[in-house]
Amino acid sequence: MKKTVVTGYRTTGKLHLGNLLGNMLNMLDLQEKYKCFFFFANLHALTTDYRDTSEIMNNVKIQLAEFLALGINPDKSVLYVQSDIHEIAELTLYLSMITPISRMQRNPTYKEQLKELSNKDIKMMGFLGYPILMTSDILIVHADYIPVGEDQLPHIEITRELARKFNKLYGKYFKVPKELITKAGRVPGTDGRKMSKSYGNAIYLSDEPDVIKKKVRMMITDPERIYKTDKGHPEICDVFYLHKSFSKEEIGDIEKECKNALIGCTQCKENLTGKISNYLSDFREKRAVFLNDTDYLKKVLEDGKNAVREITIETIKQVRYRMKLVNS
Ligand code: ADP
Ligand code: TRP
Repeated sequence: MKKTVVTGYRTTGKLHLGNLLGNMLNMLDLQEKYKCFFFFANLHALTTDYRDTSEIMNNVKIQLAEFLALGINPDKSVLYVQSDIHEIAELTLYLSMITPISRMQRNPTYKEQLKELSNKDIKMMGFLGYPILMTSDILIVHADYIPVGEDQLPHIEITRELARKFNKLYGKYFKVPKELITKAGRVPGTDGRKMSKSYGNAIYLSDEPDVIKKKVRMMITDPERIYKTDKGHPEICDVFYLHKSFSKEEIGDIEKECKNALIGCTQCKENLTGKISNYLSDFREKRAVFLNDTDYLKKVLEDGKNAVREITIETIKQVRYRMKLVNS
């Protein structure tokens, strides 16, 4: 039996390099080996974007086209929209009964986002309970593995705790899943913070070469390297960080050139821009083709919904039974 993998993307916009390096490359490998469920987390998008919901479903379409353009294959992976799977919402309600409020308030991503997104009023129950919804996404399909970026680890820890707690209270039923993290770690954005749509610091996969150029130019390099003749410290440079993914073959040379002040940051950034733009040119073409084929996109999501519901309907039946919510 193949192991099961699940992961979701909040439908808050286009994919960026953080998504690609932090998670997507992993997903492309995984679909060759495992039973993969990849979904569009539009309910999670509501936790921050509840006021204006007009773009959420359009974002599903864009993200799906981008997944397909990158090589996620609907014949190998099940692709669906979170809100189409009602059992996820139902399981979230049951799990919220056994989740202490203090555990949610201690969640480090909750505290970080309250600070980072202070312009948005996100002190809502839905936002506080974000990890409970995520736990449902994962447990509802009995996942073994969850490919995610490093930033999601606190949520996976909560998922594991809730799976154990359910099993203890109502009898062993759920697997306790594990994360799968890529080597890329936490990909920095153009301002040095974690690259994220919500921070306005992302390089998007769909960005045209001139936009990529402008964004890379803004990136933060070694702060101690003021003149071109100063020796650089690639290990603390965000541009070098991206070179590690896009210039794998020449990485040794780039490191040497920087450390010995043989190349300036401007030139180094131009090299990076070229590498990223080249890497993404094929993607941009395919993305445009998929975006035009709305009927195909709809069909992929409809097939995905039907496939995953075969599992989620059974899971929720078992949960109700174990929680003694059925008439006998
Ligand atoms: P965003 O923060 O831009 O809203 P998402 O929440 O949609 O990104 O993230 C989707 C996936 O991409 C998750 O697995 C997440 O961990 C990963 N990811 C997002 N940003 C980064 C980053 N800067 N570095 C590494 N992984 C990331
Ligand atoms: N919280 C994830 C993020 O911000 C998205 C997500 C929602 C997810 N549900 C999930 C990831 C289930 C993995 C599994 O990126």
